[in-house]
Amino acid sequence: MTAPGWEVHADTAPPADPLELARAWLPADDDPERPRVTLSTVGEDGYPDARTVLLSAFDDTGFAFHTARTSRKVAELAALPRASIVVLWPDFGRQLVVRGDVVPDGDDQAASAWSARPEYLRRLAYLNTEEHAALPQGERIARWAAFAGPVGTAASWVGYRLRPRELTFWAAAPDTASRRLQYLRTAGGWSCRALPG
Ligand SMILES: Cc1cc2nc3c(=O)[nH]c(=O)nc-3n(C[C@H](O)[C@H](O)[C@H](O)COP(=O)(O)O)c2cc1C
Repeated sequence: MTAPGWEVHADTAPPADPLELARAWLPADDDPERPRVTLSTVGEDGYPDARTVLLSAFDDTGFAFHTARTSRKVAELAALPRASIVVLWPDFGRQLVVRGDVVPDGDDQAASAWSARPEYLRRLAYLNTEEHAALPQGERIARWAAFAGPVGTAASWVGYRLRPRELTFWAAAPDTASRRLQYLRTAGGWSCRALPG
């Protein structure tokens, strides 16, 4: 018998709404431990681009992440507002892959995501400019130490929401094959199928 926690979902039938399942897997928005997700976009040169970001929030409208206005991903999303995220639970044998369209998130959400970020990450977003990145390491350490704050506002910060069109839940199992459930958005709701792999 598979141990609880390894299954994709608790019941015998998968829930009709994948966002319900995502809610059961993801921490609540007020949990300070934010999931680290791999965010993939399409580069302006046509090649995939990827990096780690924190998942700031999640609700029925989608998966929110925040970033610096000047970052490459912002330019890429302006050119093609599509993305995927991969959420990995390394110790728990779970993975969630979400693909969809990206829309700008509200200023209020950006402000609250900014204030919820750890001090180190706020300082990083504030100080780590192109000019700072080009400095020798000694100078970078000196400037970091000399910085007396404040870390500014969320003005340099912009938020997006990934609206899912496809969600794939993957769960390992110690005593049987891993299980994948893929949900695709349809005109009336969601279709769901089990996949190998
Ligand atoms: C654990 C971790 C969390 C990160 N969280 C964020 C984040 O929430 N937002 C962000 O813009 N960058 C974050 N970064 C930095 C990005 O990975 C990336 O280097 C930066 O956003 C520039 O990406 P781009 O040039 O592809 O736009 C994080 C990096 C790590 C390792």
